[in-house]
Amino acid sequence: MKAAAMGLAGVLALTACGGGDPGDGGLGGSSKKRVEIFSWWTGPGEVDGLKAMRQIFERRNPNFTFYDAAVAGGSGDQARALLSSKLKANRPPDTFQGHAGAELQGYIKAGKLEPLNFLYDELRLRDVFPEQLVEQITVDGNIYSVPVNIHRSNILWFNPKVLKDAGVSGPPKSIKEFVDALEKVKKAGRIPLSIGPQWTRVHLLESVLLGSLGTERYNALWTASADWSGADITTALENFKKITSYAGTPQEDWQPAAKQVADGEAAFNVMGDWAYGYFANPPDGGLGKTAGQDFDWASAPGTDGTFMWLSDSFTLPKGAPNRDGAIAWLKVAASKEGQDAFNPLKGSIPARKDADRSLYKDYLAYSLEQWATNRLAGSIQHGVVANDAWRNAINEAVGRFMQDRDVAKLQRALVGAAKNSGQ
Ligand code: GAL
Repeated sequence: MKAAAMGLAGVLALTACGGGDPGDGGLGGSSKKRVEIFSWWTGPGEVDGLKAMRQIFERRNPNFTFYDAAVAGGSGDQARALLSSKLKANRPPDTFQGHAGAELQGYIKAGKLEPLNFLYDELRLRDVFPEQLVEQITVDGNIYSVPVNIHRSNILWFNPKVLKDAGVSGPPKSIKEFVDALEKVKKAGRIPLSIGPQWTRVHLLESVLLGSLGTERYNALWTASADWSGADITTALENFKKITSYAGTPQEDWQPAAKQVADGEAAFNVMGDWAYGYFANPPDGGLGKTAGQDFDWASAPGTDGTFMWLSDSFTLPKGAPNRDGAIAWLKVAASKEGQDAFNPLKGSIPARKDADRSLYKDYLAYSLEQWATNRLAGSIQHGVVANDAWRNAINEAVGRFMQDRDVAKLQRALVGAAKNSGQ
């Protein structure tokens, strides 16, 4: 909590001095109008995709200046805390990143967003985005955001050499095989599973739940009346306890945890496919590593055939100071050019169905194929299945669990979190 509070204080200090983008023409008496774009893409790997979209935005809009209001911290927990105080005070940025699904529905229900039907009509976007994705960002026939990508959360990243040295023949396919492999790596004297801050544990939990419960049962968990008290959930949480007992020292964010795998210090890391951008992008943004050699991937154990998805989307908040500028940004985010520049670097596949497939190689070619053929499940940590209150309650329960390791207590907390979610 202390670290999060310090992070937020740092952020406030930064925004207070108008920082974040020294090249901001809007503050320097220039006639260009600035567009404040709020995200949490500041770290290695993440920022490369944003930069690519920014270049297109600047080229297309000589009258606007891109003002980068990004707040550091993977998965955006810190960014969302600041955003929520800005929205409450009716001081929104011009546009902000929000996850399609329950998270975005929260902003909509709170009356914070303008519908974007006019943009969907003008750009004929209903034809280019998958129907089931548009449903996630629609309320009462109004569409409220522009999805820029599809990410996958249930990926097991691993170091092939570390596995080989430990006598593990390949990536584990089931939870049981996973535990056996973790034990072998431990005996071989390497870190079995690298881990980052608190949210990465919730990220791990969603894959363990999916791998333990199966897709149908997992997908049925996301209404307030769902049953979280069953013996199957107890088993899934026991699995989580066992798996987390092999975790290394928590790293500051997801990048250093992923890097432990690429550097051969750790065998496994369960992380979203933004890790691919970080592994593969050329330095300085990425690590310039080679798939199949320095790192490799598989579906998180027990989840093969299911794509646990999430989607970054951009919004038009009510009262955006530079509404035209925000719309200009949304047009870039919606475009084929924007998505094909952003996604190959971000480690995601485009939300648009008509993107240039030849740009998506290696892991990304695999992901396109999986997205087209797999069953779907939604991410918890990344805003798809649980609204903010529910996600926060899960987060707190997992945080307490890491201290007391009490499965029964964790399960009671999760039963309560579902009941009180109002979802
Ligand atoms: C997710 C977001 C991704 C990536 C990740 C790590 O919530 O959707 O785009 O940024 O966090 O920060």
